[in-house]
Amino acid sequence: MKTCIITGASQGIGRATAIRLSEEPDIGGFALIARSAERLDETIALMNGAGKTIRAYPFDLSELRQIEGLVKSIHDDFGPIDMLLNIAGYAEPCSLWDTTIENLETTFTVNVLSTFVMTRECVRYMRDRPAKILNVASTAGTTSRPGWLAYASSKAAVISLSNTLADELAEYGIKVYSISPGRCATELRQKLAPEEDPSTIMQPGQVAGVIADLMSDNESCLDGQNIIVRQSPHLQR
Ligand SMILES: NC(=O)c1ccc[n+]([C@@H]2O[C@H](COP(=O)([O-])OP(=O)(O)OC[C@H]3O[C@@H](n4cnc5c(N)ncnc54)[C@H](OP(=O)(O)O)[C@@H]3O)[C@@H](O)[C@H]2O)c1
Repeated sequence: MKTCIITGASQGIGRATAIRLSEEPDIGGFALIARSAERLDETIALMNGAGKTIRAYPFDLSELRQIEGLVKSIHDDFGPIDMLLNIAGYAEPCSLWDTTIENLETTFTVNVLSTFVMTRECVRYMRDRPAKILNVASTAGTTSRPGWLAYASSKAAVISLSNTLADELAEYGIKVYSISPGRCATELRQKLAPEEDPSTIMQPGQVAGVIADLMSDNESCLDGQNIIVRQSPHLQR
């Protein structure tokens, strides 16, 4: 039975992914990470827990130096790690003039640096098994988003990091995926586009379905690419 770590599992795409993957018979262990213990427990209540071990690890991923201990405790609880899904993300959309150092630091720390450190620490417990890592970037990482400077550039970094890691970790048999969702109805999206009607855009369960496909043993050809996930190019960017 496989063990899967999911960051950002307290809501949105991360929660939908935890719920969707809990239907997979070959995944027996889930370690769910986000700051809100209460909302992680809500996610667990929505998952199919039959025959599974599911644990919440309430944790602030901006505490980069504590990540080593977090991953070690997950390994102590579950043993080797088979999947790491870096889904947690942060956005505080601002124009250039309004972008503070604090905004830049938080955005890059949560979106890029924590992905980097989570990956490094998990790979210690993945080597020499057919493990998979998936990073959630964004279509904002490859096309212009005036007013979202910090967020968009952080997602470009996630795409770059994923491409390099896919090549670097191939020697261990570890596959690295990067997906770039378009507009998806979550709290983060509401911050980016407050006027939008969430019922008109992609839902978190649809992104979770794509992630489940990529995590399946049948998928072996899409790693090392930036995979765009959106309903239709005519409806979304
Ligand atoms: N929604 C979209 O349109 C869209 C499009 C492209 C890409 N994405 C990406 O998809 C991913 C998921 O976002 P979402 O749309 O599902 O947004 P969301 O509903 O706001 O979820 C964000 C998740 O990240 C966690 N998180 C944020 N800061 C954290 C921190 N410091 N430490 C630990 N966890 C933290 C949150 O948990 P806590 O608050 O409990 O910590 C929450 O679970 C993000 O990487 C986002 O950039 C979203």
